[in-house]
Amino acid sequence: MLCSGTGTNLGALIAAELAGQLGPAKLRVVLVNKPEAGARVRAQAAGIPCTVLEHGEYPRREAYDAALVAALRAADVEIVALAGFMRVVTPTLLDAFAGRVLNIHPSLLPAYPGLHAQRQALMAGAKISGATVHFVDDGLDSGPIVLQAAVPVQDDDDEASLSARILVEEHRIFPEALRLLAEGRLRVDGRRVHILPERGLGAA
Ligand code: GRF
Repeated sequence: MLCSGTGTNLGALIAAELAGQLGPAKLRVVLVNKPEAGARVRAQAAGIPCTVLEHGEYPRREAYDAALVAALRAADVEIVALAGFMRVVTPTLLDAFAGRVLNIHPSLLPAYPGLHAQRQALMAGAKISGATVHFVDDGLDSGPIVLQAAVPVQDDDDEASLSARILVEEHRIFPEALRLLAEGRLRVDGRRVHILPERGLGAA
């Protein structure tokens, strides 16, 4: 997982793994780009190796992403979950993990991509917002959508109250999307992501 901040989505993934809700997925490493990221504490408490790779120490985005790829490969990572990672990733990382990078975003994409999505929804007077898990492509929050969850925007909402309501849904759909990907049940067809049925027992 790649994190930048508080790491509540990392916390949700850790809880899901403990509850056996990640299917075959195993959390192998946490990479943070800021030493003060709260995600570090969560990783350490869960016994997950955590490495700080500060983006400011690299001359270009591609060089930074190459360092991320090296650290991910060293931990035998196959799927990359951007769990509150506030950096745009480059093709250096996307090509290394083609079709296997997921991001969680606090709006119903394609509405309100980019930063402060909750604030954008409030400023737009939206009555519904929510959360989206999507495959990461080389655009800004623009890859094929895997799962979404809607929440109402209340009249008295501010950024904090709307963010808190959306986070509840983020923490539900991000582990679910990771499980589906790890189970090989996501089939991308252009912009559409089809969720394949669970491979139950063969017909009697
Ligand atoms: C979340 O709203 C997430 O959607 C966005 O960053 C915020 C913080 O995530 N990408 P976390 O609490 O650090 O997981």
